Amino acid sequence: MADYPQVIAWADEIARAGRPGPGGPGIAEGPSLLIAGPTGTGKTYQAYGAVRTLLGRGVRLRWEATTSADLHARLRPRAGHDAERDLQTLVRCPLLLLDDLGAAKTSEWTEELTYRLINHRYEHTLPTLITTNLPTAELRTALGDRVASRLAEMTERVILTGPDRRRTAPAA
Ligand SMILES: Nc1ncnc2c1ncn2[C@@H]1O[C@H](COP(=O)(O)OP(=O)(O)O)[C@@H](O)[C@H]1O
Ligand SMILES: [Mg+2]
Repeated sequence: MADYPQVIAWADEIARAGRPGPGGPGIAEGPSLLIAGPTGTGKTYQAYGAVRTLLGRGVRLRWEATTSADLHARLRPRAGHDAERDLQTLVRCPLLLLDDLGAAKTSEWTEELTYRLINHRYEHTLPTLITTNLPTAELRTALGDRVASRLAEMTERVILTGPDRRRTAPAA
């Protein structure tokens, strides 16, 4: 479960806004959440925790998760594979977890891909959980103005601080 207050608040907001249905509330359109902070501060943990919190609240949801590096690899054009269809599945998914945005090597092609993904989710107010190592100013440099300004508008931000939990964890 997410244990960070702002992350829980986001999940509660999304859960409350859900349309009622026979098997419990469905996931709603709503704000996205950007979880930023240095490596090892628990961003990925909180993002998956947010999904678990939603499921724990009885929200019926279809969700997908990918890192931005995997996204690039998965959608690279290759023979016998319909990358466009794959992209559409992620782009339209009711809840998308995009882990480590801005961490992968970028090119004009990846920039366009990220833009299409974020722009669709922005236009349709689809909840998106995003984690990133980059501070806001660097995010703009890494992703371009078009993506950064949409993120600024569509996301609530949580900044995690503290030591790298991977380094300070006691030996098992
Ligand atoms: N709140 C938490 N409680 C227990 N373990 C945690 C918590 N947050 C993070 N961890 C653990 O600390 C490590 C780093 O967390 P992670 O979410 O991968 O960091 P980041 O994505 O910011 O690099 C992982 O092994 C994770 O399971
Ligand atoms: Mg992570």
